[in-house]
Amino acid sequence: MSKFRIAAVLGLASLGISMTSQANEGMWQPHQLPALKKELKSLGLKIPANKLSTLTSFPMNAIISLGGCTASFVSPEGLAVTNHHCAYGSIQYNSSEDNNLLAKGFLAKTKEAELQASPGSRVYVTESLDNVSAQIVDDLSLELSGAERYQAIEKKQKAMVAECEKEEGYRCEIYSFHGGLEYYLIKQLAIRDVRLVYAPAASIGKFGGDTDNWMWPRHTGDWAFYRAYVGKDGKPADYSKDNVPYQPKSHLKVSAKGVKDGDFIMAAGYPGRTNRYRTSAEVINNFTWAYPTAKGYREEYIEAIKSVAPPGSDARIKYESTIASLANYAKNYGSMIKSYNKGNMLERKQAQEAALQKWIEADTSRKNKYGAAVAKLDELVKKGQQGQEHDLLYAYIKRTNLLPAAQKLLRLAHEKQKPDAEREPGYQQRDMTRFTQGLERIDRRFAAEVDSAVWVHFLEKYAALADADRIAAMDKTFGLDEGFNADVAAGIIKKMHADTGLSDTQTRLQWMEKSVAEFEASDDPFIKLAVALFEREMAAEAKDKALIGELQLARPAYMDAIIAFNASQGKPIYADANSSLRVTYGSVKGYSPQDGLQATPFTTLEGLAAKYVAGDAEFDSPAKQLEAIAAKDYGRYGQKWLGSVPVNYLGTLDITGGNSGSPTLNNKAELVGLLFDGVYESIIGDWDYDDKLNRSISVDSRYMLWVMEKVDGAHNLIKEMNVVY
Ligand code: ARG
Repeated sequence: MSKFRIAAVLGLASLGISMTSQANEGMWQPHQLPALKKELKSLGLKIPANKLSTLTSFPMNAIISLGGCTASFVSPEGLAVTNHHCAYGSIQYNSSEDNNLLAKGFLAKTKEAELQASPGSRVYVTESLDNVSAQIVDDLSLELSGAERYQAIEKKQKAMVAECEKEEGYRCEIYSFHGGLEYYLIKQLAIRDVRLVYAPAASIGKFGGDTDNWMWPRHTGDWAFYRAYVGKDGKPADYSKDNVPYQPKSHLKVSAKGVKDGDFIMAAGYPGRTNRYRTSAEVINNFTWAYPTAKGYREEYIEAIKSVAPPGSDARIKYESTIASLANYAKNYGSMIKSYNKGNMLERKQAQEAALQKWIEADTSRKNKYGAAVAKLDELVKKGQQGQEHDLLYAYIKRTNLLPAAQKLLRLAHEKQKPDAEREPGYQQRDMTRFTQGLERIDRRFAAEVDSAVWVHFLEKYAALADADRIAAMDKTFGLDEGFNADVAAGIIKKMHADTGLSDTQTRLQWMEKSVAEFEASDDPFIKLAVALFEREMAAEAKDKALIGELQLARPAYMDAIIAFNASQGKPIYADANSSLRVTYGSVKGYSPQDGLQATPFTTLEGLAAKYVAGDAEFDSPAKQLEAIAAKDYGRYGQKWLGSVPVNYLGTLDITGGNSGSPTLNNKAELVGLLFDGVYESIIGDWDYDDKLNRSISVDSRYMLWVMEKVDGAHNLIKEMNVVY
């Protein structure tokens, strides 16, 4: 399976350096904050910095993960606010051509009217975080091969996770920091009855669409509300009418006063991935090959969908989420490529590497300790790039639905032959609810005509790979040996769709119970393909794991050197983002995107109205909102200094994907907005932080409350929340 390999290609499993810590740079682990308390205080923080390192009390225990996005509790009854784009899948799941909640928006006026979130939706409340590095690495012999090392680490992790999850209702996971220099066991309460409470219409929640996405000036109402439910005993439970709202130990107050230019802000959330400590070889491969290639695949994928699914059609509704996430990162990669080409990131990386090397070589003991680290890494990075053309394309082909479903089901049949503790992560008993829900979700994300268009497009590219790079079973199934022919390929896919049972949810679920022999005897075309690909997938996975095992030794050695080098200059180091809870702080602040331009930090209702285009797919706006703006009906949310209600604002928070939905907090930890994006010029910040360009975008709490009151009539929720006027 190429999941590991692709990770390496896109820089997830590789290394680098960034040796300058600038003013607001840093995604800090909560335990690091007390050491930064002087700075936090001087910037304006009014609560003790120590409070931010205690996960089990306010405000940190109000911050929750949705797995991929962040949210926060805003009422004692489990009401949680996040981004519209984070709840998008759930809104889509409850939408159809006749009842298109994406377009109309949705508000439950009573708890009974709330809708189930899409299958697999979770609310995770982090309860503890323990450094378990010593238990994991201390007794690992340096003589182990890459594969052995990988196995040994995984075995220990599984044992710790199993022990931790003995307590019911919890999800435990080991997170590695600095590429394996440190490991933390993180324990989260996993609430699995999640309901959709409120989402504004797309003409508010996704206002500006993909044109405005990653851009400033911005006017997006990117919020949505969920509610977490638990069993009557207060413990996580599957959905049931009898479940009751979860009562969080604390929740955030929502500020109607908000912030102004220069004010202190901070955010706690779950940033996914950054690549701030990579080698220049990594940088070159990603920016000159991986990003440009993946950007092309994403754009072509979207084109293929749109070519057969007109706006508003049932098929299109099923693929709106897929399109949004493909488009989001196509644009993200595009920005990074542009920034890379006009900037000097590579030169600076190379200069930093040279400085590190010089520092290492200036001292014999350092030379002995770190001398081999850089060369070893470069060697492994090169190894990881072998076969990447094939693997990246194959990974995009596997973004279709039925082939990966068949492959996961087959793998499950194989894994089930082993005792639970020995199974591959993802196929253990603890994973089965999620596994089932993943299969269920396909139901509202698959349309045969769209699937077919995507397949045909990517098969043409696949056929263009060098003969030796392709998988024989793929060639055979799709007749690629004789060269690609669009009609032939379309005919084959059409027949596969007609003959497969996997487009039916019940049939998919039934395959969870079948044996390997039953898979091997099956006539189902997608199962047959999965069976034919299986051996090759396992071989690729073994190779990837062996490489990761080697990296698990090489990367920490390299990070060790970087950390020591920084320490020698008195600089603290934060780890690259890894989906674990982090805190970032800074202030409300504009920026200069280009020579001659200065962006102010706030946008206004009038600016929103000026962007309005009647009936446009991206810039339409609800009549009620436009009327209220025209009447200057600002209510309690108008700001004299702005002459309007602020809609979105800029800040210097250091964030990335995964921070979406994070509450933007003021100096008393009240919610003054929701983070939902970064500006175009800041996207390369995932690799290379620049104080002058790194700006986060938040939706203003005052705009959110204004819409809830004046446009959507969400009075029940305003009343339920603790709003500070
Ligand atoms: N850029 C936002 C993020 O990565 C996602 C916005 C989704 N909206 C969209 N128009 N595709 O967090």
